[in-house]
Amino acid sequence: MKKIILFADTGIDDSIALTYALKNPEVDLIGVVSGYGNIDREKAYRNVEYLLELAGRTDIPVIAGATRPLSGEEPEFFPEIHGIEGLGPIDPPIPEERYANRTNFSKLFNLIKDNRDEVIIVNVGRCTSLAIAHYLSPEVMEDVKETYVMGGAFIEPGNETEVAEANFFGDPIAANYVCQNVVNLTIVPLNVTRDALLSPSIVNLIDTRSDSPLEEIIKPILDFYYEVYQQLEPGIAGTPQHDLAALMAALDISGLYEYKKREVKVEYKGNFAYGKSIADFRPGSSNCFGPNCARIALKINHDVFVSNVLEILTNHK
Ligand code: RIB
Ligand code: CA
Repeated sequence: MKKIILFADTGIDDSIALTYALKNPEVDLIGVVSGYGNIDREKAYRNVEYLLELAGRTDIPVIAGATRPLSGEEPEFFPEIHGIEGLGPIDPPIPEERYANRTNFSKLFNLIKDNRDEVIIVNVGRCTSLAIAHYLSPEVMEDVKETYVMGGAFIEPGNETEVAEANFFGDPIAANYVCQNVVNLTIVPLNVTRDALLSPSIVNLIDTRSDSPLEEIIKPILDFYYEVYQQLEPGIAGTPQHDLAALMAALDISGLYEYKKREVKVEYKGNFAYGKSIADFRPGSSNCFGPNCARIALKINHDVFVSNVLEILTNHK
């Protein structure tokens, strides 16, 4: 079993990743760090509490992450994409005292120390909380086994701007730090997560087989997300599961991805290219070696993706 700590800005696709993690018997979810991003930090924390409650897993610790990027600027949130509360049409009935004003970040270090060389971090929001963890305690973070990050866009366009993906654009200083300093790093960028589509018919199939409160929220939130994506990219065949795709990279799913290894930089000073992820894919470039070399997913097998998601979310082989 893989011991995973999920860092999320718990909007719609983050919630599908969390749901999958809770249902996959190969995943031992030992903690969730919830920070700002799609929504503010308090809502992200509350949404995790809600999903854990639906799953009957309130034993899993939730850790309050960052509230703004390292630049200190006010973050921009995305209610038009993830809904006002971050869960599409759902307003989670969690009382404020369970999520407001949390200051329990040291819990993260205790989880890593208690599971030395076993923890896999999967970061599917802005990189701020992850960079802060490395700044605060580099010696504890050395005990993390592997790190997976959903972010960036290589060779292809971005989604936040023409060139930048939302997670890296939201805090390019943190993203650049993580890409250049975190060892055993895998990046799952937009150019593959864009193809991790779940069509309405797959979502309906999941819904007809759902038999728990947690599974019952999948269809309403993904139907909302589908309507949003039809406005953004008319005719798109489903909803891109950016964060689920990144989580699945951390599991042993044969044939899901093809990777290349490159050194990665993120533009954090520029104007037009702010948040852009950069790696050398020129003809003749080759895999790099060494600690600062990230593995980048460049191709996803959609059939493998869908069949694994169906197996986990419908409890059927
Ligand atoms: O660009 C996609 C990413 O931005 C996803 O993690 C989504 O949840 C948003 O945070
Ligand atoms: Ca996210």
